Amino acid sequence: MLSEQSAATVRATLPAVGGALGETTERFYAGMFEARPELLRDLFNRGNQAAGTQREALAGSIAAFATHLLAHPDTRPDAMLGRIAHKHASLGIAPEQYAIVHEHLFAAIAEVLGEAVTPEVAAAWEEVYWLMANALIAIEKRLHEEQGGPGWRKWEVVGRVAETADVVSLRLRPADGGPVRDFRPGQYVSVRVTLGDGARQIRQYSLSGAPGPGERQFSVKRVHDDGTPEGEVSGHLHARVRVGDVLELSEAYGDLVLEAEPAAPLLLASAGIGVTPMTAMLAHLADHGYDAPVTVVHGDRSPADHALRADHETHAAKLPDAAVHLWYEQDAPAGASTGYVDLTGVPVAAGTRAYLCGPLPFMRTVREQLIGKGVAPADIHYEVFGPDLWLAKQD
Ligand SMILES: Cc1cc2nc3c(=O)[nH]c(=O)nc-3n(C[C@H](O)[C@H](O)[C@H](O)COP(=O)(O)OP(=O)(O)OC[C@H]3O[C@@H](n4cnc5c(N)ncnc54)[C@H](O)[C@@H]3O)c2cc1C
Ligand code: HEM
Repeated sequence: MLSEQSAATVRATLPAVGGALGETTERFYAGMFEARPELLRDLFNRGNQAAGTQREALAGSIAAFATHLLAHPDTRPDAMLGRIAHKHASLGIAPEQYAIVHEHLFAAIAEVLGEAVTPEVAAAWEEVYWLMANALIAIEKRLHEEQGGPGWRKWEVVGRVAETADVVSLRLRPADGGPVRDFRPGQYVSVRVTLGDGARQIRQYSLSGAPGPGERQFSVKRVHDDGTPEGEVSGHLHARVRVGDVLELSEAYGDLVLEAEPAAPLLLASAGIGVTPMTAMLAHLADHGYDAPVTVVHGDRSPADHALRADHETHAAKLPDAAVHLWYEQDAPAGASTGYVDLTGVPVAAGTRAYLCGPLPFMRTVREQLIGKGVAPADIHYEVFGPDLWLAKQD
C-alpha cells in the first residue's frame, strides 16, 4: 500500500507525471539502450522499439498502476500485473534488472519534468515504482518456481509443415532428450534466435499443440507486405529453420489459459494467426471429452489462408456439442459466411466463457457483441500478439 504522504503527492502530480510518461519512456529507453546496448540487441524486441508500441505499453501500465493504488489502496491490478509478469518470466528478466530500469526511468523523469520533480515528488513516485516492481518480482519468482526455474532450453526441430503460404508449424523435442513439462492450452513460449547481424532476438509464440509425447508445436506467420519492414524473427524462422536445427525456447507462460472446470458453454473466437492458442484449447477439449457446448468462431482472408483449418475441424468434430462458424473475406465455401466475423446470428448460451485471439479491431467487435448478448465482461478472456495496449485501459 502507498504511504499516505506519497498518496497525496502522487494524486497531485499524476496528471503532470502521467501526461509526460510518453516522452519520459521514450527518453528512458534511449538512455538505457545507450548505456546498455546489449539490452536492445539481445533482450528487448527491436521491432516494437522501432514501432513505439512497447513504450506505450510501459507508460500505460505505470500510470494505470498509480491510478489503481489511489482508487483501491487495498488491492492490486492483478490482471495487468499477471500479464506483464508472465511475459517477463518467459523472457527471463532477473530481479536485479529492476534497478537498471529504475535508474534510467528516474533519470528520464527528472530530465523531462525538470524542477517540478522535487525530492518529495521523486520519493512518492519511487514508492510507486518499487511497489510495482516488487509485486512483479514476486509473481515472476512464483512463476519460475512452478516451471522449474528461468532459463533457455535447446529444442530440436523434428517436423516442419507449411500450413498456408504464410504460416509454418514447427514441431520440437528437447535436444537433451529430457522430460517435457505440461503446458496449459493457450500458453506461449518465448523463442530466442540469433539473427544475421549477431543480435539475439526473442519473440513469443503460442503453442498450437503437442503433436506427440514429449513434443511441442508452434505456428508462425511470416510478417511482411504491409509497407513496413519484414518481420525479423518470423522471417528468420521461415527462411532459415529446418528439421534438425536447434532453437532456444523458454518454458510455457501466459495467462490466457483455458478454464474447462467447472464445465460451462465455451466460445473460442479467433481471426488469422490468432487461431494458434484456440487450436491448442480445442485439442485439449476434444482429448478430454468435453461435453458442454463449444462454439468455435474463426475469421480469415480466405480458406487457403486459414492456418490449422484441418485441426480446427477435426477437433471440433470430436466434441459432442460443438458448432463451428467461419467467415472468409473471399472464396467462402458453402456453410461459411463472406466478410468479417459477425456474431449477430450466432447463438450464445447463458453463462458462456469466451476466449478471443486476433487483431485488436476483431477482438473489440467480438467483445462488444458478446457483452450485448449477455456475456459477463469477466468471462471474456483475450490474448494480444504484441504489447498489450488494451490492458492498462481495462484494469
Ligand atoms: C503472447 C504472444 C503470442 C504470440 N503467438 C504467436 C503465434 O502463435 N504465431 C505467430 O505467428 N505470432 C505470434 N505472436 C507474434 C510474434 O511474437 C511476433 O511478434 C511476430 O512473429 C512478429 O515478429 P517479427 O520478429 O517477425 O517481426 P518484428 O521484426 O518484430 O516486426 C513487428 C512489426 O513491427 C514492424 N516494424 C519493424 N520495424 C519497424 C519500423 N522501423 N517502423 C515501423 N514498423 C516497424 C514490422 O513491419 C512488423 O509489422 C505472438 C505474440 C505474443 C505477444
Ligand atoms: C516496474 C518495472 C516494469 C514495468 C512496469 C514493466 C512493464 C512492462 C510492460 C507493460 C510490458 C508489455 C507487456 C505486454 O503486454 O506484453 C513489458 C514487457 C517487457 N519488459 Fe518490462 N516492465 C518493467 C521492468 C522490466 C525490466 C526490469 C526489464 C529488463 C531489463 C524489462 C524488460 C521487458 C521486456 C524485454 C519486455 C518485452 C518487450 C517487447 O516485447 O517489446 N521490464 N514490461
